[in-house]
Amino acid sequence: MDIGCGRGKIFGSLSRKLKLSNKPIGIDPVTHKDVDKSIEFINEDIFEFFKSNHNKYDLIMIKQTLHFFNKIKRKKLINICKEHLKKNGVLLIFSLITSNNEIPCFRIMKKKLKRGLKRDSIMIKDVSKMLKNNQIDEFKFKVSITKKRYIQMLKGRYISCLLNLSKIEIIKGIKEINETYPNNILFDDVLICIKFKN
Ligand SMILES: C[S@@+](CC[C@H](N)C(=O)[O-])C[C@H]1O[C@@H](n2cnc3c(N)ncnc32)[C@H](O)[C@@H]1O
Repeated sequence: MDIGCGRGKIFGSLSRKLKLSNKPIGIDPVTHKDVDKSIEFINEDIFEFFKSNHNKYDLIMIKQTLHFFNKIKRKKLINICKEHLKKNGVLLIFSLITSNNEIPCFRIMKKKLKRGLKRDSIMIKDVSKMLKNNQIDEFKFKVSITKKRYIQMLKGRYISCLLNLSKIEIIKGIKEINETYPNNILFDDVLICIKFKN
């Protein structure tokens, strides 16, 4: 199960690669037109979903989604996930690395990202305390992206720190990116992963 699956591309691709007999489930309250066909997409808030669902899962993933919930809801969600894991089932929680983050930013975006990452580092510590004997890993993805494509992503507010910026701030920021970055942008996108086995 992928909580906050977005378009469900990660578990969709895993499902095809591993030839899974059951489609992985992806839950998200937002529907995208191009949701991956290899997952069973459920268009619902995760807490609503768990009100009527009592199944247990082999793997539950929460990738770059936990920070959307406040502290109380996060605690509740982690506990629900633990209850819904099979024996030896695994919970994976992915989040952006909180120090030395290389994500290409314009000034105001960087400020917001820094603030968000500070909150995330507290979140990671809290979650880590709740999941006894967890393992923490880092995954580094070498990203190579054209500036044109990256600007499209900025326009689409691809990362949480862009969500509350005004249209004018985004336009100004894109101008800044245009002036400061090369046509092909290279950076390391690093995720931290908390792994808990039941
Ligand atoms: C930053 S995106 C991450 C998407 C995907 N996991 C990935 O890493 O590409 C966060 C996702 O969490 C979803 N989300 C927000 N609130 C949620 C909720 N209450 N229940 C389930 N998903 C939620 C959003 O709709 C969004 O698709």
